[in-house]
Amino acid sequence: MSTSDSAPGSGASVARDGASRVLHRSLHETPPVAVGGHGVWLVTSEGREVLDASGGAAVSCLGHQHPRVIAALRRQAAQLAYAHTGFFSSEPAEALAQELVGDEPGGLAYAYFVSGGSEAVEAALKLARQYFVEIGQAQRTRFIARRQSYHGNTLGALAAGGNAWRRAPYVPMLSAAFSHVTPAFAYHEARDGETEAAFVRRLADELEAAFDRLGGETVAAFIAEPVVGATAGCVTAPTGYFRAVRDICDRHGALVVFDEVMCGMGRTGTLHAWEQEGVAPDIQAVAKGLGGGFQAIGAMLASRRIVDALRRGSGAFQHGHTYLCHPMACAAALEVQRTIKDEALLERVRTLGGLLAQRLTERFGNHRHVGDIRGRGLFQAIELVADRAAKRPFDADARLHLRVKKAALARGLACYPSGGTIDGRHGDHVLLAPPYIANPSDLEMIVERLGAAVDDAIASVGR
Ligand SMILES: Cc1ncc(COP(=O)(O)O)c(C=O)c1O
Repeated sequence: MSTSDSAPGSGASVARDGASRVLHRSLHETPPVAVGGHGVWLVTSEGREVLDASGGAAVSCLGHQHPRVIAALRRQAAQLAYAHTGFFSSEPAEALAQELVGDEPGGLAYAYFVSGGSEAVEAALKLARQYFVEIGQAQRTRFIARRQSYHGNTLGALAAGGNAWRRAPYVPMLSAAFSHVTPAFAYHEARDGETEAAFVRRLADELEAAFDRLGGETVAAFIAEPVVGATAGCVTAPTGYFRAVRDICDRHGALVVFDEVMCGMGRTGTLHAWEQEGVAPDIQAVAKGLGGGFQAIGAMLASRRIVDALRRGSGAFQHGHTYLCHPMACAAALEVQRTIKDEALLERVRTLGGLLAQRLTERFGNHRHVGDIRGRGLFQAIELVADRAAKRPFDADARLHLRVKKAALARGLACYPSGGTIDGRHGDHVLLAPPYIANPSDLEMIVERLGAAVDDAIASVGR
């Protein structure tokens, strides 16, 4: 017997007894039910309007229910919903690949469409490994990543990531092929009085030492987020860092993999975050802003030299999933990307990013519990501290980030606070990633509501 009161989409309650059968992220509470959206707003079943200041987890780059994308999905659904890639290609997949890598940005020439960020990272790791097997360097089995990073929750991607909290219960299941070095996180990792150049040199020396310790000829790739996302909160690298990384990897014959699942597809003001570093990867993972949440899609982008090596060798990438190149997902992503182009949204992200940084600085620059304001484009974060001078975090048990999230939601604001900013346990930050279609007045409202939520949450600590 069905316990459902009504069909999905009716807006009515989900279950008669009020108990949700969804295994939610928290087993202590059921989140509000989102039933609609328009622009930067989400609407709950109770009729509340919530300002979406983080696009979920930096996903909804065009906001909600964008008419162009909804129309594209309707057209695609009416034409072809699914065809297995073991038998067929599809028009949306071909067009999306052309759109993304047709002009070979940074040498990236092929696209492999999957269903999300973790799958994109898994594909990147496996392609790196297979490439070396095919070119006669099968001894390259190791990967170097960074602490305080996140590359996804599937076991390969989780092993690559350096998010200690996410990894902890699964460590015995995670591959020992992954080593982790210090992140380029100046606020916490640069020493007192250390110049930016000296910090970069120290990080480069550490990476070089990691190659030497592992044996440079055994390393397949270095993987990093050009702008670190949710784990540390919009951390940009110091000038010259990624150039130094690229040079070291080149010298040792290892590949560079950039994970732009969160920071890519325009989020920082250029289509790829690496454009602002002047360093392109050999393989790249993208997701979130690729499809803007209208469909579940991620992609691995690979350079011509890697794919050509496979073509000359076994003739196939030895990987695959049932929903590769899903036509509905590719159609949605194609329309999202065309909209970003047609509406000059990258420029808009740069302009709005400047405005957001300015407003955050005005509101929090002198706040005694905000230690750092950082990020790029519409990808910015504030880090909360108990003591600014000492950069001392709040007691982790106070779970300040969760208090901020709750206080923000109570004020009609969805933002993305996380804990463990410093080491996986200590530190709290709030990440903002508003839709590219936001207006300056939306940003004003985001900062105003966030300010009030942060003050409420901090006041509640110790109560
Ligand atoms: C940088 C990065 N890589 C990978 C992932 C995993 O993506 P997904 O959650 O779509 O599997 C995320 C998700 O937050 C991410 O931020």
